[in-house]
Amino acid sequence: MAASVLSILHNKLCGILGKLNLFFLIPTTLALFTCLFIIFYITFTSNLFFQLYPHSPPFNSTLTKPTTFTFTQALHSGTNNQHLNKENTENRSEVFHDRDIFVESYKDMNRSLKIYVYPHRKDDPFANVLLPVNFAPGGNYASESYFKKVLVKSHFVTKIPSEADFFFMPFSIARLRHDARVGITGLPEFISRYIFNISHNYPYWNRTGGADHFYAACHSVGKIAMQKASEVKFNAIQVVCSSSYFVSSYVPHKDASLPQIWPRQGDPPNLTPYNR
Ligand SMILES: *[C@@H]1O[C@H](CO)[C@@H](O)[C@H](O)[C@H]1NC(C)=O
Ligand SMILES: *[C@@H]1O[C@H](CO)[C@@H](O)[C@H](O)[C@H]1NC(C)=O
Ligand SMILES: *[C@@H]1O[C@H](CO)[C@@H](O)[C@H](O)[C@H]1NC(C)=O
Ligand SMILES: *[C@@H]1O[C@H](CO)[C@@H](O)[C@H](O)[C@H]1NC(C)=O
Ligand SMILES: *[C@@H]1O[C@H](CO)[C@@H](O)[C@H](O)[C@H]1NC(C)=O
Repeated sequence: MAASVLSILHNKLCGILGKLNLFFLIPTTLALFTCLFIIFYITFTSNLFFQLYPHSPPFNSTLTKPTTFTFTQALHSGTNNQHLNKENTENRSEVFHDRDIFVESYKDMNRSLKIYVYPHRKDDPFANVLLPVNFAPGGNYASESYFKKVLVKSHFVTKIPSEADFFFMPFSIARLRHDARVGITGLPEFISRYIFNISHNYPYWNRTGGADHFYAACHSVGKIAMQKASEVKFNAIQVVCSSSYFVSSYVPHKDASLPQIWPRQGDPPNLTPYNR
């Protein structure tokens, strides 16, 4: 752009000087040479002319590029290869900045990830905290209930534990808190008994020490709940409505944060975010 503007300017300037040349030969010849010299000088000293703007390809034109690094491979190379050298680690970190690899991994995850939800009967005395609620969740801790409602209906759920990648423990901390039989003070005991039950009735907890198990909790008492079950806190994946990395009991390398929503009835407020 700048180059073409300058070259038009140059042509005009030199053209005018060329016509004047007929009448004022010597001064205009000098002017012409000066004109050319200035342009010559500028082109060789300024990066204005030589700045190369690489033509960025359209965002999705690279999708045809073969992507061989998939989620499952990442998972396996991450867990099985214990002797990662620095170079590999650095290269793998680039994977997370590559849109195509991300999309492929996402599709792979969507296709292959399987979750086993510990089953509980409708007549279980704690069915109210273990099964998804059959009404629209509301209030501060609604995300916790929505998470379970949506998860159990999703295509990720499998009834065959042997094909599961993860195991979901469906207790609801928020509902236990309001259950007169448990309450806040009874939470640690309940969770401890729950882990005792699943680790004695099923082989999966012991296999990994709970590392492939997860639960969701939106209430801050979740951290009290694990007081008598430190193996949950240190091994299992805690999907929590954490507003901060620094809350105690949140372990960044394995836990995940769940956005907290507060569903409200009626029309959304007609206000821009700054005016709410
Ligand atoms: C991406 O691909 C789609 C479908 O092939 C095409 O319609 C769209 O224009 C492309 N977008 C860009 C930014 O190239
Ligand atoms: C990635 O690996 C290649 C060899 O496979 C190496 O040449 C390159 O330097 C590595 N890149 C980084 C950022 O480590
Ligand atoms: C994930 O998989 C489901 C079931 O196969 C499919 O309905 C859905 O569209 C997929 N989602 C994405 C984002 O690919
Ligand atoms: C543990 O199992 C026992 C016996 O089946 C049952 O009575 C109890 O409610 C269970 N407790 C929890 C917290 O799952
Ligand atoms: C799991 O480990 C505990 C403690 O070591 C043990 O008591 C229990 O029997 C084991 N569960 C199974 C299903 O083997």
